[in-house]
Order: sequence, then structure tokens, then C-alpha cells
Amino acid sequence: DYSPAAADKFSFGLWTVGFQGADPFGAPTRPELDPVRAVHRLAELGAWGVTFHDDDLIPFAADESERQRVISRFREALDETGMTVPMITTNLFGHPVFKDGGLTANDRDIRRFALRKMLRNVELAAELGAKTFVAWGGREGAETDAGIDARAAFARYKEGIDTVCEFVRDRGYDLRLALEPKPNEPRGDILLPTVGHVLSFIEQLEHPDMVGVNPEVGHEQMAGLNYVHGIAQALWAGKLFHLDLNGQHGAKFDQDLRFGAGDLKSAFFTVDLLENAGYQGPRHFDFKPSRTEDDEGVWTSAAGCMRNYLILRERAAAFRADPRVREALQASRVDELARPTLASGEKPEELLSASEGFDPDEAGKRAMHYEWLDQLALEHLMGLS
Ligand code: GCO
Ligand code: MN
Ligand code: MN
Ligand code: MN
Repeated sequence: DYSPAAADKFSFGLWTVGFQGADPFGAPTRPELDPVRAVHRLAELGAWGVTFHDDDLIPFAADESERQRVISRFREALDETGMTVPMITTNLFGHPVFKDGGLTANDRDIRRFALRKMLRNVELAAELGAKTFVAWGGREGAETDAGIDARAAFARYKEGIDTVCEFVRDRGYDLRLALEPKPNEPRGDILLPTVGHVLSFIEQLEHPDMVGVNPEVGHEQMAGLNYVHGIAQALWAGKLFHLDLNGQHGAKFDQDLRFGAGDLKSAFFTVDLLENAGYQGPRHFDFKPSRTEDDEGVWTSAAGCMRNYLILRERAAAFRADPRVREALQASRVDELARPTLASGEKPEELLSASEGFDPDEAGKRAMHYEWLDQLALEHLMGLS
């Protein structure tokens, strides 16, 4: 069967199962979900971890005593269920104060407030043993280029992330940051729109080793990009610190479908890559159960995320084990790409003058046989073998 186990490291945001179904055109369709109940239900379904924005758990306006009461009640649920908190993130988008951004708002006092909110949440992350601190700057962006000095915005973005890193170091916390790209929504254009933008931004930071990327399936696909290639580049760069699995149908609004819904073929190759690349981090779901569903539908949807992952993991393993696939991979020379192009120690001058009797016309006639390889992948995905 496809029952999730702790070793699968499935985690869910409180805001995912807690999504009440409000959208720009309609009111919530479901009542509020008690975070304690969410922890218990997720644990029963076989999840290993739960993640949250500060505001998902602690009301924005809570005073210190309410904050402590909420946290200790939540801790009890964690202790009772054995659930972990692998990641925490900060809500710098919900309250009207953040309508022009948090770390990159034009107003300096708002930026200082946003950064304090993050530092406070870093303390909580350390307290709960989280190892990853996600930063999704959904409001860091613009609707008009006249209203933002984008170069200054990047300087302030860097200042903000550097400050959080410095705080983590000063306190000696065992915590890494993961920046989450998204091209648009809620802002017309969001800064750091794709995995590639985040990877290049990290290089400008004071402590690049402490910062990685948190790529979300739907966000890359909203930009028309290949999610598998995005996480492959992050893995190659040693920067896949965390990830958000969900589903999306191409370039349109952020659908946050359950994992597997949306581009199923890309989901298959995503799982194939994660399982074969030795990714050790959480399999974190950031989805929104459709507003058409009631409470029961929420848990059906959450269970579906994990079940689809496990089914795809089995399908991907069967694909890799199939002797026909091994043969097809050979025929497509897929393994040849792992071989360095130059001989060891070979100099560019030697390459330039190498006479190898290479015939481009002959090489141009070689078939790659990808159609057959891809057909085998599809058949495995469809459960045929
Ligand atoms: C979105 C984002 C968010 C972030 C979350 C964690 O709604 O587009 O995916 O869900 O992942 O804020 O920082
Ligand atoms: Mn996300
Ligand atoms: Mn999303
Ligand atoms: Mn979302």
C-alpha cells in the first residue's frame, strides 16, 4: 500500500490544510481550523512534520502572554503526536502594513518592523528546533516601475537577509535560510521571480553558505519554466535546502493544487530526481484544498499529496529498474553526459589542435531515440509496467 511513514519526511504548512477558501472573488467557505487539530489530523494521516507562518499560529495582535499560551498549547500537540517542526516562515504579506512590501517597503519604519518580526520568528524557529527558515517575499515587488527603485530594493533585500543571518550566527542557532521565488501574485511583479534569480542573489550576500532556495512547483510553472531543471540546478549548486510541492496547470494564477494534480508528468520526473539525487530534506506540501471542499475534503486532499508522491516514487523506481529503460537510456547515450568533455589534464590548446577525424555530417545523422525513452516513461507513469 502507499501509507506514509515518518521516514518519508512529509510535512505540511498549517496554512495549507487551514486554507478557508477565500479568494479575490469570494468569502471563506470553511471555518477556521484549530492548529492543534491540524497537528493531530496530519499525524494520523502519516505526516512527519508541520510548518507555519508566525501568524498561522499566533494572532498578529497577540500580546506576550497570549503568545506564550498559544505556543505551549501547540508544543503539547507536537509532544502528543511526535510531529516535528522542520521549517518556520514569516508572514510579511497579510497585514495592510505590508502592502508595499516588508524588507523592501519604501517606508523605512515598515522595513524595521518587518525585520523585527522576522528576528522574533527566528527565535521561535530555534526554540522549536526548526532547521530551515523560509523567506517568501510575496509583497516585495511592484505594480509600477515608477514606484520602486529596484536597485535600491535589492540592496535593502540583501540588508534584510544579511541581518537575519548575522542574528542566527550571533545567537549560535543551527538554522539555514531558504528564499522562495515566485514571479507574481500578490504583487504584479515580485522581486526574485525564479530559482535562477534567487541563486544569483545568494551570491551577493554576506553569508551565502547559510542561504539556499525553496522552489515551489507551481511558481516555476507560472513563469513557464521547467521545475525539474530548476531543482536540478539548485541541487547541483548545493542550494536545495527545502521545497514546496504542489500542482499547477501552466501559466495562470497560483493554483496550489495538491501534489500530482496539474502537470503529472513533471511531478513524475520531480520525484524521480529527488529520490535519485539523494535529496535528504523534507517533502513539504504547499497546496490549497479547493474551496469547493468541506473539512473531510481537506484531509482527502492532504492524504492525496502524500499518496501521489508514494505512487510516483514507486513508478519512478519501476521505470529505472526496467531492462527496456536501461537499454533505451544507453541508446540515447544519457550516461555519456556524465563524462567530462576534456580528457583529464587536457588543455584548451590541445583541444583546439586535436585531430580526431570527427565527421559532423555523420554525427548529425545519429538519432537520439528519445521518443521511445519518453514513451517508456509515460507507460510507467500510466501504470502499464
Ligand atoms: C504562495 C507561497 C506561500 C509561501 C509561504 C511560505 O502562497 O504563493 O507559496 O505559500 O510558500 O508563504 O513562505
Ligand atoms: Mn510556497
Ligand atoms: Mn503557490
Ligand atoms: Mn500559495
